[in-house]
Amino acid sequence: MRHYLMVRPAYFDVAYSINPWMDPGKPTDAGLAVAQWDWLRDLYLDLGHRVDLLDPVPGLPDMVYAANGATVVDGRVLVARFRHRQRRGESVAYLKWFAGHGYRDVRQARWANEGEGDFLVAGPRILAGSGFRTDPRAHAEAAAFFGLPVVGLTLTDPRYYHLDTALAVLADDVIVYAPEAFSEDSRRRLEQLYPDAVVASAADTAVFGLNAVSDGRHVILPQAATRLMAQLRERGFEPIGADLSELLKGGGSVKCCTLELRHGGEEH
Ligand code: ARG
Repeated sequence: MRHYLMVRPAYFDVAYSINPWMDPGKPTDAGLAVAQWDWLRDLYLDLGHRVDLLDPVPGLPDMVYAANGATVVDGRVLVARFRHRQRRGESVAYLKWFAGHGYRDVRQARWANEGEGDFLVAGPRILAGSGFRTDPRAHAEAAAFFGLPVVGLTLTDPRYYHLDTALAVLADDVIVYAPEAFSEDSRRRLEQLYPDAVVASAADTAVFGLNAVSDGRHVILPQAATRLMAQLRERGFEPIGADLSELLKGGGSVKCCTLELRHGGEEH
């Protein structure tokens, strides 16, 4: 069983553009965004997971992308420091939520980092992106705060501006990624660390197929990533396709909407 934190997109909108997917000229439909998001939350519950909710705040239309709010490992919470001023107000809501829900070691990051957008926990280590959002100095900060080794990876394609748009952790030692989204050094590092990784096609990456959530068995991912679904089945995972077309207009999908709460021994 996994424990997730989500934010209902009641105030969803694309009111500004901070990534190449966002076009404020295109109409959005907050009602449809809520319906698609409800489907995802219900799916997690049906799969036996626990979902907690953080209340959306008017004027913060990107709040639905809960993965960006914090990184939580062993009950320790490193709250995000957003790169863009449009999202900075979100940190306050996360600081309050965690403090009010029994988490004791809660701190806002000193260096820009956008939570699980760029920090992906993979078993004994954290894979950490930079290049567009997260300050590389945030990597050492996270290593010290969590007491875990952090592997820094450089993103080079503006369409894949967060690590969770170019790489997904399927199990502690199994990842899927899009090599073309990374610098040559980072590609080499990933090949070394994960010789058996699933390599995604450019077509599946372009429909946000890598923005996936795995519970170790089921992998929930954008339904348009059909080839990736077949690859996952071959590896023994059960892919489940999701339609989050509204949320894609903001440059996010399944993983962006899902913050995993990993607590060590204590219950919350
Ligand atoms: N519009 C949001 C932004 O640009 C989308 C964030 C997507 N989240 C993610 N985990 N990749 O910040």
